[in-house]
Parts: sequence; C-alpha cells; structure tokens
Amino acid sequence: MTSQERIAQLRSELHRHNHSYYVLNMPEISDYEFDQLMRELQELEAQHPEMYDPTSPTMRVGSDISNEFTQIVHKYPMLSLGNTYSFEEVADFYARVKKALGSEAFELCCEIKYDGVSISLTYEEGRLVRAVTRGDGVQGDDVTTNVKTINSIPLVLHGEGWPREFEIRGEILMPWKQFDRINREREAQEEALFANPRNAASGTLKLQNSSVVASRKLDAYLYFMLGEQLPSTGHYECLQHAAQWGFKVSPAMRKCNTLDEVFEYINYWDVERKNLPVATDGIVIKVNSLAQQRALGYTAKVPRWAIAYKFQAEKALTRLNEISYQVGRTGTVTPVANFDPVQLSGTMVKRATLHNADFMDNLDLHIGDMVYVEKGGEIIPKITAVDLSSRSFMMGEKVRFITRCPECGTPLMRVEGEAAIFCPNDVSCPPQIKGRIEHFISRKAMNIDGLGAETVDLLYSVGLIHDVADLYQLRIPHISRLERMGYKSAENIVRSIESSREIPFERVLFALGIRFVGETVAKKLARAFGSMERIENATFDELVAVDEIGEKIAQSILRFFANEQCRTLVNRLKEVGLQMEVVVDESIERTDKLAGKSVVISGVFAQHSRNEYKAMIEQHGGANVSSISSKTSFVLAGRDMGPAKLEKAQKLGVPIVSEEEFLAMIE
Ligand code: IVH
Repeated sequence: MTSQERIAQLRSELHRHNHSYYVLNMPEISDYEFDQLMRELQELEAQHPEMYDPTSPTMRVGSDISNEFTQIVHKYPMLSLGNTYSFEEVADFYARVKKALGSEAFELCCEIKYDGVSISLTYEEGRLVRAVTRGDGVQGDDVTTNVKTINSIPLVLHGEGWPREFEIRGEILMPWKQFDRINREREAQEEALFANPRNAASGTLKLQNSSVVASRKLDAYLYFMLGEQLPSTGHYECLQHAAQWGFKVSPAMRKCNTLDEVFEYINYWDVERKNLPVATDGIVIKVNSLAQQRALGYTAKVPRWAIAYKFQAEKALTRLNEISYQVGRTGTVTPVANFDPVQLSGTMVKRATLHNADFMDNLDLHIGDMVYVEKGGEIIPKITAVDLSSRSFMMGEKVRFITRCPECGTPLMRVEGEAAIFCPNDVSCPPQIKGRIEHFISRKAMNIDGLGAETVDLLYSVGLIHDVADLYQLRIPHISRLERMGYKSAENIVRSIESSREIPFERVLFALGIRFVGETVAKKLARAFGSMERIENATFDELVAVDEIGEKIAQSILRFFANEQCRTLVNRLKEVGLQMEVVVDESIERTDKLAGKSVVISGVFAQHSRNEYKAMIEQHGGANVSSISSKTSFVLAGRDMGPAKLEKAQKLGVPIVSEEEFLAMIE
C-alpha cells in the first residue's frame, strides 16, 4: 500500500470510529488503539503535505494558531423562536396553525430545546466547509476551526443520499460533566467561574486557540436542515436521514397528532430532562411538513410554524433565618441569605448570595420573611422576591448591611459609585491575609506546589505564618507535625518554597498582590524599571509614563510602597533571596535590526516555534502584533497561512516574508 492509500484508509477508519464513539456511544476499539491510528495519520500527513485535507480527522486536535473570526452573511437568516411559559399559549399556537391550514390535517414534531449556542453548519460534497455562529441573525462569526474539534460533528458524511450542498443547524453544548470539571480547574487557578454551561460553550467557541477548544470537549445536537434538495418532505424525516449521515440528532424527537400528546411530551421531559447530560430549557414544537411550514411562513422575527415552551425555573418558598457576611481575599464583603433548606433542581439548598448592599436593599428583606428562591440555568440559587402576604407585624426590622468587618471588627468602607462594600484593613484582617498568601503561592505567581488553601489555613491558624515572608522560615518538622501532614508532603512543600527563589522578578512583583497589578502590568513594570528598588522609588509621573500604566494603577503602586508594613515585607523577601531584579539573558544577542517594525506572525513553521519567532522579533527591536493593518511592516508567514490574512495582506500591499527570509534578515 502506498502512503497515499494508507492516509486515505486511516482517515476513513478514524471518521468511522469517531462516529461510533461520540454519536452512537458504541466504541469498537479502545482509546489506545484509536490514539495509535491517529498518531500514524499525523506522522504520514506531516511527511505528505500535498495530501492536506481540511476535513481530515487530525483537524480535531486543534492548533495554537491564533484564530481570526471573519464575519459571514447567513444564506438563510437565523431566526429565533416565539416563547411561552404556559399550556394555554401552546393551545393558542395549535389553534392558530389549525386555522391557517384550513381543512388540512397536520402533524407536529416535539423536541427538546437545548440550552447552548446555535450554530449553522454548511456541507458541500459531503464535507464540512463552514461553521458560523448566529451573530445578529443576519451575519455571524466563522468559527469553523474551533467547530472541527467537536467530535460529534462529522467532518465527512457517512452513507449516501446527502444533497450536494446543504446547511444544518443545531446547538453546541458543554455537557454538565465537562462544565463541572472546567469550573473545578478554574477555581484551582483562581480564574473566574463560568455561570452556566451556555456561557461556557459560547466563551469556548470564541477562543483564539483551537487546541484549548478541543480540550473542553463540547458536544452538538442538530435540529434543523435547510437546502434546495432535502431528502424528505418532513422535518422529522430529514433529521432521521441526517442521523444516518453521521449527525447527532436528539433521540427524544417525537411526532404528535394531538394537543394532548404535546402536553404529555412536555410533562414527561420536564421531569426527565434532569437526567440528560446537557442543559435544556424547554420544548420546541414544530409543524412537521415542510410544505406546511412554507405555507405558514414567518413573522418579522419568528417562524409561525414553531413555538418554544420554556420550563419554569425551579422555584420554592422558604423562611429567611439570617444574613451572614463573607469577607473575600480582597476585602470585599458579600451578604449571604440563610434560609430553611429546600429541594431545588435535585439538590438541597439553604444559602443564596445577595451579591451586594444594593441588591439586598432592593429586596427589602426582613428576618423571618417567606422568600422565593429560584434555580434556573444558573447553578447558584438566588432570592427573587419576598412573599409580602405572609409578613406579619411580629417580624423584625428591615435587614441592614453590617457596619463593621465580621472578621476583624474594622469599620467597613464603600468607594463612591461602587457596589462593593469592603474592609480596609488589608494588613491584619485574617481572610485578606490568607487570601494574599494563597495568591502569592498560586501557579502564575510563585508556583509553590503542595500548598493549597487548606494548608495555608492550617499554617495560619496554628500561628506558623502571618505573612508571605514567613513561608521562607518554615522547616520540615514545623509542617510534618501538623494534622493530616506526612513527612513526605512536608518535604515537598519546603522544597517547593526553596525553588521559588528562582522565580523571575516580574512574577515576584505580581505575587505581591498589589491592587490592579496583574500579570501583564507586572511584566510591563519589570521591563520598564528593571528592579524592585527602582519601582519603590518611582514617582507618579515616571509610573504613568510606562505604556498601559494609568493613574489608577500608579496610585495603587504608590499607596503600596508608602505603607511601612508593605515596605518591611518587601525587604524581608529581599533578605530571603527572592529575585528583585530582571536578569538579562546574556546569551541572547540584542540588536535593533527590526526597530520600528510591526510584524504579524501567521501559519505553521518548520524551523522554530511561533513563540520563538515572537521572542526573536522582540530581541531585534520589533513588535509582534496580532492583526494586519496598513501599519504592518510585514507578515512572517509559515505553511497554511489563513486565506483571510493572505487576502488582507495582499489588499493592503503588506509584504509576505518566509521563515528563511526572516532568519536571513536578522542574521
Ligand atoms: S429550531 C427557525 N429546535 O433555541 C427556528 N431551536 O429560542 C430554528 N434551540 O436559536 C430553531 N433547541 O438556538 C430549534 N430543538 C430545537 C432547539 C432550538 C434549542 C435554540 C436555538 C434557537 C433558540 C430559539
């Protein structure tokens, strides 16, 4: 067999296995065998670039080439659906359809309304050519590269009978399981959590790096086919064909002939949906015949042949017992409602966040009130209203926000115009101290492994650490004596603290947790000033002269170093040997061969990685920018440069420079 034949064979086998695993849930081979086949194909494709195929199974792993989302106008506008929450309105819809169709009999198709992001997929000659988001309904973003990483979406169709060109629409979803996993990971890295799987799916689809999209393991259900030569005259039947071609079509679709059957369907799925692996928010009812759909047509916004029945967010009435207050690591105080436990969406809840003082005031809460608690698509329950009819004169006064910090007793403060109320005692308020230590040891800061929030809590409560500098005085016996701590883990922690002395200055600066000094700002400051000493002594004018450092950041830095305790802390960190200045790598030669040039990098490179090229551009005085404009000096282009970039560069007359030419330039 020639390599070309083997490539073709592997592609077809991998497409088939992919479908068996992700659509049918019936794997035929082990994950290991699958990975072996994939690896073989990747190697062969690398040796045979002439066999490039945008729908190869290898496209599913994604790449770190930065995505550009060009806008595409939808061939057929992407409309939404009319919504209702009541059976009466479903009955009205039924009556309207019946009247409009006169004497004709009609069938309805009931299906689940998936709560994700809608997507339009275009197939030509049995291959996925384009995936576009809904956007404003008229035009959306081209997210093809990201969508190709979704395993349940076929890149090449199976079977036969598909139209030469057609569009199929559906919903991209993040399964609950992945949603929970990703949020757990984000929590560990102190990144903001996704509020619900819909936000998570939509954020993921817009990521620049498709290999990250691949790791998020999105799923997709298809529910609407459009085109000139569809395989059947009924909506339900078209989708059954689609299932044969490899699409994931909901097995819960059902044809109904009467209104009662529709209600039965709704009642069944309102309960059963809790067992589905993905989020749903209702039922969609569609007239099944495509001819009847055409006859019924559309209003300006929605089809007359379909309606969405939305499930009620789960709601319960319960007694408010107490408001407690949590102090976060930055000092923000959050009110929390505590109520009699109630069952909501399958879990017992007894607490709900009240967000801030304004939110709490607006609800006009009194202790003892009966309050409505809801849990909709969001995972965090919320109080939506008070049942005023059950409030009696016996009840307590209106709940008022506390005036002193529940942790340290300091009078609370509020910045004019901001919702948050905070404890200004950042020096000795325990949760703030612990929060700063947790930030200091986090992965992106000093990366001290083995020490988590729990251990920090323990070390703090037994008095072993009071601030981050104390970490460097810890010895193995101090830690191994603690509860649930063995010698081995103590040894690990100490070793990890030791090696943090090598962490570069810019991360030490970030680790200090100065307000508004995030990773990027720390990098800029480190580059501009070169050492802690020079930052400590910098004036307001010197600070704001740095690119991207505004007044707010400058003031915060000045405030930090004006504080005696903060300065002492920094000095102690100096004494224990942390990096307090930028170390210049002498092995890298710096020139100004690219001074004043702004360079865009695009495509896949053979001799160096993208990051290496980025570093080279900067070493030689140039700037790496992400998108092409008339100001771009040149594009450093590797293999498979995106067609949109190529076109733009040509239009603006920006020169395209190959890897070899670039390396010669900086020789
Ligand atoms: S049909 C012209 N079917 O709900 C009507 N939509 O509120 C085409 N959705 O934008 C849509 N599940 O994102 C249809 N089974 C289903 C659906 C569904 C979820 C979404 C879709 C649409 C939105 C409308």
